Amino acid sequence: MTGTGPPPPQWIMRPDSLLASVLRRLKHSFALERVRVVFVDWRIRRKMERTFARADPFDYSRSAFDQDRHAAILGVLGPPPLGRVLEVGCAEGTFTVELARHCAEVVAIDISATAVARARERLKAGGIDNVTLVVANIRSWRPVRLFEFDVVVLADVFPYLGHRTAPAEFAALVKRVTTWLRPGGRVVITSWFASDEERRAREAHAACFLRQGLRLEREEIRGAGLDRPGLRYLFTVLRVHG
Ligand SMILES: C[S@@+](CC[C@H](N)C(=O)[O-])C[C@H]1O[C@@H](n2cnc3c(N)ncnc32)[C@H](O)[C@@H]1O
Repeated sequence: MTGTGPPPPQWIMRPDSLLASVLRRLKHSFALERVRVVFVDWRIRRKMERTFARADPFDYSRSAFDQDRHAAILGVLGPPPLGRVLEVGCAEGTFTVELARHCAEVVAIDISATAVARARERLKAGGIDNVTLVVANIRSWRPVRLFEFDVVVLADVFPYLGHRTAPAEFAALVKRVTTWLRPGGRVVITSWFASDEERRAREAHAACFLRQGLRLEREEIRGAGLDRPGLRYLFTVLRVHG
């Protein structure tokens, strides 16, 4: 007999399309993102602790590429003294020292306890006492008060936050960061990239801030021809209305 009868009712799903639909829902479920984020952060923390087992693993004290990034950030902050700055992903505090000389107060956080311990030594050796160092994951950290920072610096940290694997979590983080800034405050981002695909992924970070109503003040590609072959970085400055 050939199948010439009426088609099955719409609500009867074939098992394979039912499975596909369940998988699709799971893929976009916030609960599953949470699980992915916990895993991503566990991996990053472990990787960072291994990375910081030796001092200056990113070669920040010598790299022209990274010095260019840091100079670009200081360049847009304007002349000192600046007010309160939050530095996310401060690593061993190489840039924190420079920020501290520009600002009245810096809160610097990093997920790696080893990195923060080294940053603490560096600040002490430099006689710097206007920095609060915190071992924390930016996803769960909360400031004491909202709307208190003049600038949030996110230098080469967003690429670790799994914007693609957990877009809703990333968007929620961006929304929170926005509430930490005082009216007129700025977000300054640097993010390295090696390909057009990575560049587009970095541009998407800024787009999340635009959706929160921030204004794009500057977006530049920098770092070509310096000492990180094949790498460049996206430099972005956004401002909260106010
Ligand atoms: C490539 S380093 C950048 C250091 C510094 N911002 C700079 O540009 O010179 C990235 C830092 O971000 C930190 N990091 C990664 N994920 C983080 C997270 N979820 N919360 C806080 N820090 C994080 C790492 O431990 C690492 O020290």
